Amino acid sequence: MSAPNAPSPERVLQLITGGWAAAALGSAARHGVFAALESGGDAAEGVAQKTGISVRGAQAVLDAMTGFGLIRLAGGKYTNTPEASAFLVPGKPSYLGAMAEVMTDGLAEWAKLPAAVKTGAPTTANTTDMADNPFWHALVPAIAALSYPIAQAASERLGIAKAGPVSWLDVGGGSGVWSAVWLDANRQARGVQIDWPGVNRIARGFVGGFGVADRFSAIDGDFHLTDFGSSKYDFAIYAHIAHQEAPSDNVALFRKVRRALKPGGTLVVNDFILDDDRTGHPFAMLFASQMVLATRNGLTWRKADYRGWLAEAGFTSIDLVPTPSPSTLVFAS
Ligand SMILES: C[S@@+](CC[C@H](N)C(=O)[O-])C[C@H]1O[C@@H](n2cnc3c(N)ncnc32)[C@H](O)[C@@H]1O
Repeated sequence: MSAPNAPSPERVLQLITGGWAAAALGSAARHGVFAALESGGDAAEGVAQKTGISVRGAQAVLDAMTGFGLIRLAGGKYTNTPEASAFLVPGKPSYLGAMAEVMTDGLAEWAKLPAAVKTGAPTTANTTDMADNPFWHALVPAIAALSYPIAQAASERLGIAKAGPVSWLDVGGGSGVWSAVWLDANRQARGVQIDWPGVNRIARGFVGGFGVADRFSAIDGDFHLTDFGSSKYDFAIYAHIAHQEAPSDNVALFRKVRRALKPGGTLVVNDFILDDDRTGHPFAMLFASQMVLATRNGLTWRKADYRGWLAEAGFTSIDLVPTPSPSTLVFAS
């Protein structure tokens, strides 16, 4: 028996098995377990039959998901909770199952974190500075669900819907989710993104899904080396890029963006940003480890870092706005 008020090992045990939890969720998503339950409850045998997996495997992931509270068990039948319906059934913009799959695939890389932590250098050959890294092809559609509500929030704040025939440059636009959301809100606008050719191909398909691809274009290339032009755009977007870059590269890119903006134009940054004492949302705090694994110089940067870099690049109005997610929006003009 432990002494009264003794610390409980529960949280540490949950963390120790965190990789198992991610893999169980990724397996349920990969095999369509939540999709199989969306139209009605079923037993493990029925789920196995609908998804083409073994009964033994179905039982194991159903047990795990029920333990997490994502699936309910009543009268021998499993059903999705509202949380599972909202985020783990494919076909909705909020779908996070693809991200669960990508994270499960990345667990072997995370097993090398002790070595990366020791040296401070990435353990993967596929670092974020590798041209057209195939990792992005899987990641960018998977994280679109994270960016979707943030792009909507930024659109509302900037009044994109009523801004008339405006244009923007999305640096490292990935799936094209920001352009898709903004072009959907404003039928006169035009969106341009710079990214690697393989990613831009994915973006054209993604943006096409919103029926707005005719006003979307993509520039293939390395955004460090590509000229962004001068006084061309009303807005620029720099979402989930700063964390992979060294401070000096963020300043250089912010300078190029500022030059590309028309006078009075606004840069929107979105990222996992810590408070100046390096505390903040637990996901943002964990994210620094991902940067140590996969980048040479990236990290989770602090509010003061962004303010300093943007001021150095010539922006005079800098507004940091929290969101309901782990990421923060920065509006700079
Ligand atoms: C984490 S994703 C962010 C995607 C999108 N901005 C979002 O917030 O959903 C990073 C994107 O930057 C692109 N990228 C990274 N380094 C790049 C570089 N040097 N040149 C062009 N694109 C790059 C990747 O291909 C990927 O699409």
